Amino acid sequence: MRDILVTGGDGQLGTSFLELNLPQGYGLYAPGLDRLDFTRPETIDAVMAQRPWAAVINGAAHTAVDRAESEPALAWTINAEAPGRIAQHAGRMGIPMIQVSTDYVFPGDKDGVYLETDAIGPLGVYGASKAAGEVAVRAAVARHIVARTSWVVSPFGANFVKTMLRLGTDREELRVVDDQRGAPTSAQDLASALLAITVQMIENPNAPTGVVHAVNRGETSWRGVADAVFARAATQGYKPPKVFPITTAEYPTPARRPLNSRLSTERLERVYGVVMPQWQDAIDKIVDQLMLLETKRS
Ligand SMILES: NC(=O)c1ccc[n+]([C@@H]2O[C@H](COP(=O)([O-])OP(=O)(O)OC[C@H]3O[C@@H](n4cnc5c(N)ncnc54)[C@H](OP(=O)(O)O)[C@@H]3O)[C@@H](O)[C@H]2O)c1
Repeated sequence: MRDILVTGGDGQLGTSFLELNLPQGYGLYAPGLDRLDFTRPETIDAVMAQRPWAAVINGAAHTAVDRAESEPALAWTINAEAPGRIAQHAGRMGIPMIQVSTDYVFPGDKDGVYLETDAIGPLGVYGASKAAGEVAVRAAVARHIVARTSWVVSPFGANFVKTMLRLGTDREELRVVDDQRGAPTSAQDLASALLAITVQMIENPNAPTGVVHAVNRGETSWRGVADAVFARAATQGYKPPKVFPITTAEYPTPARRPLNSRLSTERLERVYGVVMPQWQDAIDKIVDQLMLLETKRS
């Protein structure tokens, strides 16, 4: 059996991994915070020593972008030091490591889509700590992938789609930022893409390494995502609020956010043969799953 370790088992991505159908001969273990806590390095050592892992995918992170501004040491421990420690184990064990990273390593001032080769320049603590995590992983494990994604959404945990549906239930009008552009990415589509890459890394010692951008296809703004969420929900009896566009400046937050989060998936498609679904299809699927859950509860 080839066992893959996925950290952050209770998060959006970790939960999505647990729902995947694995290829024959593969197993997947995704411990949550109770068994693998990045602020307790001894739990990292214990889990890494637990089995002869075939690969490790680091999906755990301090993802509270605004809170990271006021707790930078914690963000650094979880997003930079812990991935580095895992990578040292992976390097010693000679196994591939997939480090999940973010569009927030970029400043967002480029005109076009960001390529893997573009210079980074994070605007806040979260992005800076994730960028340090990328460096730590690349330094410690030769067979690494740094997979940057953006705007992760799913039926699980806390995310923009769930927030919109919740707010839209109570309010007649919503104001949503319209000048940040990117692609919402389904954690389920991301898990499936990362599994495909991981299997290639395990089965082919010469599989290409390095940075790869993995996001759903297409682009929009947060307001565009909100419109798509409400349009889909409305087909199932949900009464949508009116959505008004606002600028980032009109919605001040502790952390600055990149205006351009668009990531090119050309390398993902060309090198790994992975084509992610269109973002609208991903949103439709998530809304359908959430509406079904709601129907079952009521
Ligand atoms: N969410 C996004 O929009 C987004 C965008 C770009 C990139 N990413 C990256 O994508 C990956 C997956 O993100 P996600 O959306 O699945 O995030 P998520 O839902 O917040 O999941 C992250 C998981 O890490 C856990 N975690 C927090 N502190 C930890 C610690 N000290 N030790 C171990 N685990 C800890 C969280 O537990 P608790 O929930 O209990 O804190 C959570 O279960 C991350 O690498 C993230 O940086 C996310």
